[in-house]
Amino acid sequence: MADSTYYLETFGCQMNVLDSQLVEGQLVQRGMRRVDSFRDADVILFNTCSVRQHAEDKVLSRLGQLKNLKRRRPETIVGVIGCMAEREREGVFIKAPHVDLLCGPGELNRLPALIDEVRDRHEQVVALAGSLSRRTEVLQRALEYDSLEALDLSRAPAAGASELQSYIRVQRGCDKFCTYCVVPFTRGPERSRPAAHIVQEARLLAQRGCREVTLLGQTVNSYVSQEDGRPVQFAQLLERVHDVEGIDRVRFVTSFPADWDDDIFRVMRDCPKICTYLHIPAQSGADRILKSMRRTYSVADYLRLMDTARRYLPDVSLAGDFIVGFCGETDADFAATIELVRRVQYQNIFVFKYSPRPGTAADRNLDDDVPADVKLHRNHELLAVQHQIGLAQKQALVGRTVEVLVEGYSKLARRLQESEQDRGAEVTNRPSRQLVGRTPGDQITVFNGDESLIGALARVRITSASALTLFGEVLSVISPHRAPPTAPPVGSTPLRVLGAQPSGAS
Ligand code: SAH
Ligand code: SF4
Ligand code: F3S
Repeated sequence: MADSTYYLETFGCQMNVLDSQLVEGQLVQRGMRRVDSFRDADVILFNTCSVRQHAEDKVLSRLGQLKNLKRRRPETIVGVIGCMAEREREGVFIKAPHVDLLCGPGELNRLPALIDEVRDRHEQVVALAGSLSRRTEVLQRALEYDSLEALDLSRAPAAGASELQSYIRVQRGCDKFCTYCVVPFTRGPERSRPAAHIVQEARLLAQRGCREVTLLGQTVNSYVSQEDGRPVQFAQLLERVHDVEGIDRVRFVTSFPADWDDDIFRVMRDCPKICTYLHIPAQSGADRILKSMRRTYSVADYLRLMDTARRYLPDVSLAGDFIVGFCGETDADFAATIELVRRVQYQNIFVFKYSPRPGTAADRNLDDDVPADVKLHRNHELLAVQHQIGLAQKQALVGRTVEVLVEGYSKLARRLQESEQDRGAEVTNRPSRQLVGRTPGDQITVFNGDESLIGALARVRITSASALTLFGEVLSVISPHRAPPTAPPVGSTPLRVLGAQPSGAS
């Protein structure tokens, strides 16, 4: 495997982004080198998403582009990893026979061995869990859990990845089985990782210069693990991560509205490093749709939760997801969703057209009866409503001073820089560039400043705003970029797996 190259493309959510980083760490540790074009790669990997048909279509189209290459260079290994591999299983080989390797999200720790196997045996290999076996065989689950823990804890730095902001998984899988959703089938049952492991990871990341961690879970607020026979709830976990030296910001996504515990608000109020940002998907503003989605809360419950959030955290930034055109959604149901969006005043929302997923309860039992053009129209309409709200919210910040973690050059500055480089111009050491960072409320903020600000926490005065972006000027540096202490060599300090018992295993 040493001296070979890999290309990895990631589709889907933050879980997949994290999985890709962990996979890359493993590959780099084994001497592989990342390349930016699949044409130069010995191993081509797509880390895939199944949440909507569109996500799968994108992968199939990318795979289609590899057919010729594979004909010319049959020794190139093509792997489909992640949620689509798990959902489609061997069906991927029917749609794309040139794929050599399938690996589900629960088996990624085996990926380097699978690549070796394809290379040695010249045949297709498959590593998928299948949610059924996970649900019945507790021992199997415990073993699997441990090796996955080892993958999370390995945290070998991925090539070129900035670790200023990092994800930490706190929970795997999901037990909610919302009727439209494929995630419980691709990621298996909900399991919370041990709190001590999560804190250990946060410490390691802080030592490497990470300032902001985002705790990931499909329903992150339902986190509960066992420690010395006592439960550790999400609020306590937040407190512990907050106390890790060197971590300046803690975020978490995604929260499930029905599992909320006000202790989380109290901890957010009392711990200044926890960002006042809540991503709590509502999905619909109509009770009958929520019921047929099996979301287990009512619109009134959801609104009460939003009101409580604002009572504890007056400056909180709220974000949510919505599905438009779900089975049976009428104009009146959709109007109720618009009403909810107006009432909550989100900072940002994500809107998705309902996409039936094979094997889910909605696909089996309900009619996908909202025509495609109506879904599209509702999608645009909801986004247009939010556009006005987002604009007003951001404009209200003009004149205010916000704290920003400076992430790097803004897209515009990067594009300019690249095109200048393409033309061979000299672009080094420019005194002033457009930088971008985020506020604790996850508002994208653009301002002028020089490179030394990247990685710093800065005070920025907002001078203008669009619906998606704040523009401002730097007033002062709160704390400068923290250079990581001489980093340990790649893979030299894998973290220890504590105990062997998967928390929450039943
Ligand atoms: N666990 C998170 C969301 C995971 S999927 C939660 O429950 O909040 C991200 C978003 O994709 C969901 O919030 C939902 O809005 C959307 N989504 C999931 N399945 C979908 C489907 N079949 N069609 C359209 N959107 C879907
Ligand atoms: Fe899917 Fe619902 Fe679980 Fe979110 S909570 S991942 S929408 S099943
Ligand atoms: Fe997609 Fe899997 Fe995430 S289906 S949204 S990549 S959990």
